[in-house]
Amino acid sequence: MSKKSKIIIIGIESSCDETAAALVEIKAGKFKILSNIVSSQIKIHKKYGGVVPEVAARNHIVNILPVIDRALTEAKIKPARIDKIAVTFGPGLITSLMVGLETAKTLAFVWKKPIAAVNHMKAHLYANWLANQAIKYPAICLTVSGGHTELILIKNQTNLKKVGQTVDDAAGEAFDKVAKLLEIGYPGGPMISRLAQTGNPKAFKLARPMINSKDFNFSFSGLKTSVLYAYENSKLKTKNLKLKANSCKLTADMCASFQQAAVDVLAAKTIKAALHFGAKTVMLSGGVAANQLLRETLQAEIKKLKLNFVMPDKSLCTDNAAMIAAAGYFEKPIDWKKIRVNPNLSI
Ligand SMILES: Nc1ncnc2c1ncn2[C@@H]1O[C@H](COP(=O)(O)OP(=O)(O)OP(=O)(O)O)[C@@H](O)[C@H]1O
Ligand SMILES: [Mg+2]
Repeated sequence: MSKKSKIIIIGIESSCDETAAALVEIKAGKFKILSNIVSSQIKIHKKYGGVVPEVAARNHIVNILPVIDRALTEAKIKPARIDKIAVTFGPGLITSLMVGLETAKTLAFVWKKPIAAVNHMKAHLYANWLANQAIKYPAICLTVSGGHTELILIKNQTNLKKVGQTVDDAAGEAFDKVAKLLEIGYPGGPMISRLAQTGNPKAFKLARPMINSKDFNFSFSGLKTSVLYAYENSKLKTKNLKLKANSCKLTADMCASFQQAAVDVLAAKTIKAALHFGAKTVMLSGGVAANQLLRETLQAEIKKLKLNFVMPDKSLCTDNAAMIAAAGYFEKPIDWKKIRVNPNLSI
């Protein structure tokens, strides 16, 4: 953390298929986003049904400098005014991470600026600081993304401890796999939540794996299998499935039922952890935190418990570089020559 009263950080992110750069100003503990540029490769990877690592890395190489340039231009900030560079060094796809990291290290050398290496999963959590709301400790954060589902106990701003995680698929991965099964497109989360709006969440009785387990872990692969069997069964039962209207209703009902089951488990485990650890604040982060049902459900449940609830703006839940800059604020700079990518980094 810097002792200066106002500092400007540039965040750089390239861990998966988003090339991102952002300028964030921190003044008297308040975070202000000056620019936040995200260049998504979703359209490129859509046809493969998932991210192709080498294709992602090649596109990061093309995008990274124009994205950084745009972030500086939109923020109206010259490199000389930057106090710190914050860059993701893991977890993520190794070749994608290397593009962002090597670019940031080069900028640190050329601009003569301190550089901080940021853990992408910590950055998802620190996206909550961009909301500038009071955070009372201890706090519990549910991080739900494409590759992770974790409960993090936060004793103070920099003391983070993982207390629960998925034992198989991540929640976002389950949304993406179920969407693939239902043939509704990629990425699955936004598609499922959109179709779920017209579906009946009680239409299918789906498994809620580990909802009553004594620990704070999750499992989503059983829920995905439960969707597969229920969907195949109902397709067989529905004689008129060839009629488009019937098929649409079945898909919408399945989306609503799956979303409800996933949210039930995520909310139940988060509340259990909040009560167990005596949390005063509950936070939400990661791409799945953009899910409206999850946001509303947790907010309502936490309100009943009279605890503080903080969540990032939806646009700051999926990968972005403003969250990297926010996390970089809490990281000490290190010698750029010593930073290496760490694809399997954990909290
Ligand atoms: N509205 C939504 N409802 C549910 N899931 C969503 C929604 N919007 C996005 N997602 C999911 O969020 C995930 C992407 O989130 P994020 O960008 O944080 O993941 P990632 O960076 O690929 O993984 P990680 O952060 O674990 O490395 C995808 O699985 C996507 O389906
Ligand atoms: Mg992410």
